[in-house]
Amino acid sequence: MQNRIGFVGLGIMGKPMARNLLKAGYALTVYSRRRETVEALIAEGAQGAYSPREVGERSTVVITMVTDTPDVQQVVLGSDGILSSLPSGETIIDMSTISPTATREIAVATQTKGIHFLDAPVSGGEGGAIAGTLSIMVGGEASVFNTCLPILQAMGKNIIHVGPSGSGQLVKLCNQIAVAVTNLAMSEALIFAAKAGVNLELMHQAISGGAAGSWQLSNLAPRVFQRDFAPGFMVKLQQKDLRLVLQEADRLRLALPATSLVHNLFNALESMGAGNEGTQALVKVLERLAQVEVKI
Ligand SMILES: NC(=O)c1ccc[n+]([C@@H]2O[C@H](COP(=O)([O-])OP(=O)(O)OC[C@H]3O[C@@H](n4cnc5c(N)ncnc54)[C@H](OP(=O)(O)O)[C@@H]3O)[C@@H](O)[C@H]2O)c1
Repeated sequence: MQNRIGFVGLGIMGKPMARNLLKAGYALTVYSRRRETVEALIAEGAQGAYSPREVGERSTVVITMVTDTPDVQQVVLGSDGILSSLPSGETIIDMSTISPTATREIAVATQTKGIHFLDAPVSGGEGGAIAGTLSIMVGGEASVFNTCLPILQAMGKNIIHVGPSGSGQLVKLCNQIAVAVTNLAMSEALIFAAKAGVNLELMHQAISGGAAGSWQLSNLAPRVFQRDFAPGFMVKLQQKDLRLVLQEADRLRLALPATSLVHNLFNALESMGAGNEGTQALVKVLERLAQVEVKI
């Protein structure tokens, strides 16, 4: 019998991911706090629920895609959470980006109740979620990973089992280090070009295909040129991830100078009131220092 999927958290990422599960033909029950996002998915063929508990009652595999560590703890372990209703033998897959340490604790709590647990955070942004081409890095037991692979394949392309519980989150934090530091490198290249009076469009064309090429340069720089700071990935969520990175680095007594610097600059950006903007807004901090705007 095909799995009945539950989905909790229908934000920028969760909504298109849930939609791709519907397109793949899965029976889907969804829950999010804002009812309008639930209604939108009901209109496309999903069933709506009023709590994570109700999602657990109706599902064999429940996916969570919420904001932060306390949110996953609440929707999984809370009094009205998935664990209060999901039958023994079924599976929870958390695809949010949260603490690796808390993830291992949640995995133990679920396994104590006979529930399988995978941490499966993603990379690829809103565009990857819509296209179903996310990279998915998975921690947990290999047998559970193999069973759940077809479900993950409805949402992503590069899907790798990276180790035991918590490993998916650790690999995701590696991803976030590379993403955030590259964003700063891109922003410095843009501000340098603007200050030097270089043609921004031609500069972008000239360097995107060479060794400086990056996802950030291809996807975020054009938005900066158009002064489009709408979020694909919000500054405040990037900061949540960098805090997770720096906490782990602290535990490991590890110096990450570039990551610390980007986190610091994002603090300044949040002070400027841009916490809900996209991470491409990082350039605004450099613009203040340079007294120049990156604009076409
Ligand atoms: N955006 C990206 O590019 C991206 C890429 C990779 C990974 N991620 C990660 O994916 C996760 C989701 O990101 P997002 O961009 O989709 O964020 P988002 O737009 O803020 O969506 C979060 C969703 O979770 C729901 N939610 C949060 N806390 C909840 C709770 N306690 N109970 C029930 N529902 C709750 C929210 O519901 P309401 O809106 O109703 O409050 C919302 O639907 C985050 O961990 C983020 O770091 C994001």
